Amino acid sequence: MRNFTIIIKVLLFSFTILSCSPGEKENTFEKKADKLLQKMTLDEKIGQLVQKNGGSFSDSLVKAGGIGSVLNEISVERQNHIQRIAMEDSRLGIPILFARDVIHGFNTIMPIPLAQAATWNPALIEQGARVAATEAASSGIKWTFSPMIDITRDPRWGRIAECLGEDSYLTSEMGAAMVRGYQGDKLSDKTSIAACVKHFAAYGWAEGGRDYNTANIPENDLRDIVLPPFKRCAAEGALSFMTSFNDINGVPATGNEFLVKDILRNEWDYTGMVVSDWVSIIQMVTHGFAPDEKASALLAMNATVDMEMASTSYETYLKELLDEGSISQKQIDNAVRRILTVKYKLGLFESPYTNPDDFPEPLNNEHLAVSKKAAIESAVLLKNDGILPVSEKIKTVAVIGPLADAPHDQLGTWIFDGSKNNSVTPLESLSEKAKSNGITLLYERGLKISRSKEISFPEKVKSISKQADLIILFLGEESILSGESHCRADIDLPGAQEELVNMVTASGKPVIAVFMAGRPLTVENVIEKTNAALYAWHPGTMAGPALTDLLWGAVSPSGKLPVTFPRHVGQIPIYYSHRTTGKPATNETWEHIDDIPVEAPQLSIGNTSHYLDYGFEPMFPFGYGLSYTTFEYQSIETDKTAYSATDTIQVSVKLINTGNYNAAEVVQLYVHDKVASRAPAVKQLKGFKKVFLKQGEKKTVIFNLPVSSLGFHNLAMKYMVEPGEFEIMAGGSSDTTLETGIVIEN
Ligand code: GLC
Repeated sequence: MRNFTIIIKVLLFSFTILSCSPGEKENTFEKKADKLLQKMTLDEKIGQLVQKNGGSFSDSLVKAGGIGSVLNEISVERQNHIQRIAMEDSRLGIPILFARDVIHGFNTIMPIPLAQAATWNPALIEQGARVAATEAASSGIKWTFSPMIDITRDPRWGRIAECLGEDSYLTSEMGAAMVRGYQGDKLSDKTSIAACVKHFAAYGWAEGGRDYNTANIPENDLRDIVLPPFKRCAAEGALSFMTSFNDINGVPATGNEFLVKDILRNEWDYTGMVVSDWVSIIQMVTHGFAPDEKASALLAMNATVDMEMASTSYETYLKELLDEGSISQKQIDNAVRRILTVKYKLGLFESPYTNPDDFPEPLNNEHLAVSKKAAIESAVLLKNDGILPVSEKIKTVAVIGPLADAPHDQLGTWIFDGSKNNSVTPLESLSEKAKSNGITLLYERGLKISRSKEISFPEKVKSISKQADLIILFLGEESILSGESHCRADIDLPGAQEELVNMVTASGKPVIAVFMAGRPLTVENVIEKTNAALYAWHPGTMAGPALTDLLWGAVSPSGKLPVTFPRHVGQIPIYYSHRTTGKPATNETWEHIDDIPVEAPQLSIGNTSHYLDYGFEPMFPFGYGLSYTTFEYQSIETDKTAYSATDTIQVSVKLINTGNYNAAEVVQLYVHDKVASRAPAVKQLKGFKKVFLKQGEKKTVIFNLPVSSLGFHNLAMKYMVEPGEFEIMAGGSSDTTLETGIVIEN
């Protein structure tokens, strides 16, 4: 009988939905949530606000309606068991929402998010998220805690690996692409999973690049740099947000009414669900922001945090807080309604169970092909003296280094459901390549792991280096050296890797360095000694085939840095969209510390903002990346020279492939507001397009740039575009090569 009722409900619901407009659909889901809400007891309502970690609860709690969501339960059998109790034994049959950190792939591991940002290819990133969602959903996961869109300018921070870089616009577009990929075209489709935009907010602004640390940030910068990606993802329809561990100017995000209630809810009119981070509600006691867990529950509820992850302050204190009048029934009902609405949108009431047979096989060729393409497009060519792509004349190749055959580490951080057993390592692929091309391949790890303090088998390293026509040296970090709470104060190559570089380069043979890491590393002194350098980040399951194709020229590298690479850790924070300051350094004024005369007088004139020992420029700037071909940027034009605040600026950029390879190029568009009521950045990314040009091909790339996107929050905290002169710049890096001027009129 019950199944018959469900079928009738499904038919009625589907008819209702199909005959509604988007806005009406939203209301339909909310109306259904409201209707259910009316039937719920207070205990059942509070139960929806509770997220438990897999295995940490009893069936009886599920039957009592005491749980709204479960994270980290990935046995489909156990999920269906729990769900059957929720749907069939509990009083109201409200489905459980199963959640997991599906950060860059589920079984098929994509490159780490920072690497994916280096593709500057939103469509490809969306594909990767679609693959992740399909595989996660086949394991019963209907909610991922991704995309992570924290802006950071500090590569010491371990979670830089997990974010999309230093720039607000690039992060916005790539984050929105992930939301689309996870949530699919239809939320109720069996392969769609809810996105969760995190960590709200300013988590990447951690002082000293130390995870969980204080974030001191002026509200203008919060609104102009940190928040736009969150607003973009909310506009993309992300079903949920997660608050961050850190405090913002002394107020923890999870109890921050200004951030969550005033901005997210009231200014942005966000109606999705907000979940805390792992026990971040009760951590407000540790912050010294709440005297006890009851007070922290009150702070989180007042900030409109709907669901508590893993801790128990809501289930323990909300009833008491309601009875004493500290919170209202409306607050609880609003939270429950938002959670139920997500469950209705996902179709969980109609399809609460998972049958893996209804889904494509994980790790199928199509999924692996997306992972390989993402790994290819995320690799950034930092240097090439012409040794790449590898010539057919090369007959003996030495593969050396701790990351040539590291199936676990190439996957990167946050790979809960990925397995090294599915990895194809560079050594494996290069060995195959060697066999099919009649190349002799010699191999020595050199260091057991990236942190090893001694070179193992030094004689073998030296001998194969001498025998080889070419050496490919795989350097970098084990995956555990980045990720949550895995920050480094020194971002040089770990262990004895530099010693290994010196040993290998002493052979006098050409050396290609391939770096695998979860962050920018300060490797200037290594790159200086090699003929070429390819930055592959942690490229995921298909690292081997991707890197082999790149090295042998089946495809040209096209990655561009989503984050600035410092020359020295002491330069941090260093980023492209900095202000000029009143005394900007230029190459003319920069001194070398060794050139300073003894007892030189300390003059106060002619000084500029730089370091005596490391200057003022990065090793590589944001947006930088070489290709096997060359692109000449020929012209930049705008359709007018003067614009009003409501206009759109049409910018045409002409470029030509002047080299000998067909290749993709990321054309980047930057804007500089020359004078403003808050000193402006020297430039800001406002557009990018990845285009493919055959050898000799010319292309005109058009950008339509709304004048309204050129504004900022002024000292009165009002977003506005101030009239005046603006420079529009374009190029293949933030070191742009083309420039034109326009005026924004009153
Ligand atoms: C963590 C992370 C968060 C993750 C959550 C659940 O501590 O900060 O990003 O989604 O716990 O694993």
